[in-house]
Amino acid sequence: MINRKNIAVIGCGNLGLSLVNGLRTSVHFPSKNLVVTRRNTSEILFLEDEGITVTDDNIKAVKQAEIILFALKPFDLSRVLKSLTGYLIPGRHILVSLATGISIKEIKKFFSDPVDIFRAVPNTAADVGASITAVCTTSDNKAAAALVRDLFNQLGNTVFLEEDLIDSSTVLNACGIAYALRFIRAMIQGGIQIGFDSGTAASISVQTVLGAAELLLKRNQHPEFEIDKVTTPRGYTIAGLNEMEHHGFSSALIKGIVTSFEKMHSDKNAREAL
Ligand SMILES: NC(=O)c1ccc[n+]([C@@H]2O[C@H](COP(=O)([O-])OP(=O)(O)OC[C@H]3O[C@@H](n4cnc5c(N)ncnc54)[C@H](OP(=O)(O)O)[C@@H]3O)[C@@H](O)[C@H]2O)c1
Repeated sequence: MINRKNIAVIGCGNLGLSLVNGLRTSVHFPSKNLVVTRRNTSEILFLEDEGITVTDDNIKAVKQAEIILFALKPFDLSRVLKSLTGYLIPGRHILVSLATGISIKEIKKFFSDPVDIFRAVPNTAADVGASITAVCTTSDNKAAAALVRDLFNQLGNTVFLEEDLIDSSTVLNACGIAYALRFIRAMIQGGIQIGFDSGTAASISVQTVLGAAELLLKRNQHPEFEIDKVTTPRGYTIAGLNEMEHHGFSSALIKGIVTSFEKMHSDKNAREAL
């Protein structure tokens, strides 16, 4: 049970804080079981009011916890792992790296004994318990995997994948939040042009997108099935949709997803070539 474990978040920046916000508002997880770190703690000291331990001392955090989440930038991960040599103990600690592009094989190099290592890709909707988190591992420790699943289920839903899909997942769910938000922004802009004030346009657009997502989740349908229901022949929905497609709507999104993915790979190859 995850609520009986202590969790350290090493590197409590944007993503780390989203995870902490999600966990501290989860009814199933006690805030006092959290210890969070960054070098400059001033921006996260408010978490102490919730009973969370805030420190700039990674070793202290690791000593207090069984599950260690590394929410660091990729270039900080190896330095921090080196500084924790001898404190991360196989059998006691479960390691979860959120650092984009660093493989489990690379992380294992820091350990002489086998250690349970997971990579996880949540998105910032963890903040409100609505993330989808992709997880992979090479560990066959089923109890550790169950704990990691339980942890990310506090923050939304969890899917276990093979590691070769983790980069794709980073694009689809971590970058995907930004793509979806940009879509909503465009809807708001259109709404204003046809007469709404921005607040009303935002409320209507956000709830409409939420409703579309709920429909797909709850009815388990393909989007086109639901689109067919609202596109009357010769109607104005299909006229608008087709106009969007003539301007590259679907194509722009697909090209953007592929560009993010290709950039991630070229950056990774550049890093490995150093
Ligand atoms: N943001 C997302 O949506 C998202 C989604 C999926 C994956 N990721 C991945 O998650 C990782 C974190 O991303 P982010 O956007 O949250 O980055 P971020 O905001 O820069 O957070 C990283 C934090 O690490 C802290 N840090 C750096 N060195 C440290 C050290 N030695 N000890 C303790 N803390 C240290 C930094 O704070 P100080 O400078 O104060 O130490 C910083 O706040 C990245 O690898 C990113 O690719 C992000």
